[in-house]
Amino acid sequence: MTRKLYIKTFGCQMNEYDSSRMADLLHGSHGFERTDDPGQADMVLLNTCSVRDKAQQKVYSQLGRWNMLKAANRELVIAVGGCVASQEGEQIMKRAPEVDIVFGPQTLHRLPAMLDKVLTRKTAAVDVSFPEIEKFDSLPSPRVEGPRAYVSVMEGCSKYCSFCVVPYTRGTEFSRPFDDVITEVVELAGQGVREVILLGQNVNGYRGATHDGGIMEFAELLHYVAAVDGIDRLRYTTSHPVEVTDALVAAHADIPELVAHLHLPVQSGSDRVLERMKRGYTSSDYMRWIDRFREACPELSVSSDFIVGFPGESGEDFARTMELVEYVRYDQSYSFIYSPRPGTPAAELEDGVDMQEKKQRLMTLQARIGEFAAEYSRRMVGTRQRLLVEGAARKFPNQLSGRTENNRVVNFDGPSSLAGRFVDVVITEALPNSLRGRLGPNDSQQAA
Ligand code: SAM
Ligand code: F3S
Repeated sequence: MTRKLYIKTFGCQMNEYDSSRMADLLHGSHGFERTDDPGQADMVLLNTCSVRDKAQQKVYSQLGRWNMLKAANRELVIAVGGCVASQEGEQIMKRAPEVDIVFGPQTLHRLPAMLDKVLTRKTAAVDVSFPEIEKFDSLPSPRVEGPRAYVSVMEGCSKYCSFCVVPYTRGTEFSRPFDDVITEVVELAGQGVREVILLGQNVNGYRGATHDGGIMEFAELLHYVAAVDGIDRLRYTTSHPVEVTDALVAAHADIPELVAHLHLPVQSGSDRVLERMKRGYTSSDYMRWIDRFREACPELSVSSDFIVGFPGESGEDFARTMELVEYVRYDQSYSFIYSPRPGTPAAELEDGVDMQEKKQRLMTLQARIGEFAAEYSRRMVGTRQRLLVEGAARKFPNQLSGRTENNRVVNFDGPSSLAGRFVDVVITEALPNSLRGRLGPNDSQQAA
């Protein structure tokens, strides 16, 4: 009987990516298949995140629930990975003795060996070290599901923003060698992948070793990936403003496969706050880059991460953020109230901003960006858009679903044979979370 693996993921795309790598690894080594039901699982795995909120508490309360599963099935293996695991290490076993395996973001490739140790020697296994080079070498080729695939090109972060735990939990920046990245992209294209999303904590800080002893920068990597046969759409996330270069701006004009969308986290529009965050740019530096990107690609839509209520953020500071929002006219945001992270410099700063006020600021910011997003969607009605068809629509299984360049989901009627292909649709309606469309004349002929 196949063994079943249940994975619960907290946090960002990076963690989702790591979770699918863990599933691939355990499939290859022990034949595990993923299940959606922890009650059916032979192994349950918690991939944790500590960027915000009460990360530790969330982890221990989840483990409390899984302890009950273990009471019913003594053979159940419980594993904890990710950033909280990296911070807590052995501490996890002390507080939750039912846990069998603890591993960090940089030791996930050792999971099969750790599992063997647990299964054969019946002892717990803990490894939260940072052997980043080894990790990339030991990961299996990803299993492809659908026409989109993530490719991790760099790991970790060396920016040390004053509010952020990532440099401490994921280690410093490390780029995968160019040959490894391109080999993976070629393999993915061979398996039917048409869109690649290059992934990294500061993906545009990529500096990968080349086989002739050189270093390849990110903009050049984009050119090579776009040139791979079969790869017709290219995205990247998350980029950092201090790593923007002229060559990256030019790539948006020169590479047709590169989408007209940019995720460039700004965090705040106030120079005073940016300085205290140690972001390394001013709001006018940021606006200048956005202008340049838009000159290179006039239809570019832009999204960002924001933190509101950073310690000492005044009403004036927040007003600067809203001015920036008006200037850029963001299409989407990932915005959160500042959450103090133990061990980071900002956690020592005097706060002084009332929580009610912070919540109000967050609502103001999100409401305005929501208006821009709705306006973008409305303006798309009547236009022709190229979609990468992912398959049946989630809510309407009789329809197909695809994504536009600016990452909107479009549902439309069409034959299932279009899955995995690009089609042109005319947008007919803008709904709050998706769009509706109609196949263009060429595509309906193709489909008929
Ligand atoms: N490389 C990206 C950049 O240029 O900022 C950020 C990656 S970070 C893991 C993802 C997002 O989490 C950040 O952009 C920030 O908005 C948010 N974040 C990080 N630490 C936070 C904290 N202490 N409180 C609230 N949000 C936080
Ligand atoms: Fe965090 Fe700043 Fe790096 S937000 S991931 S320390 S760029």
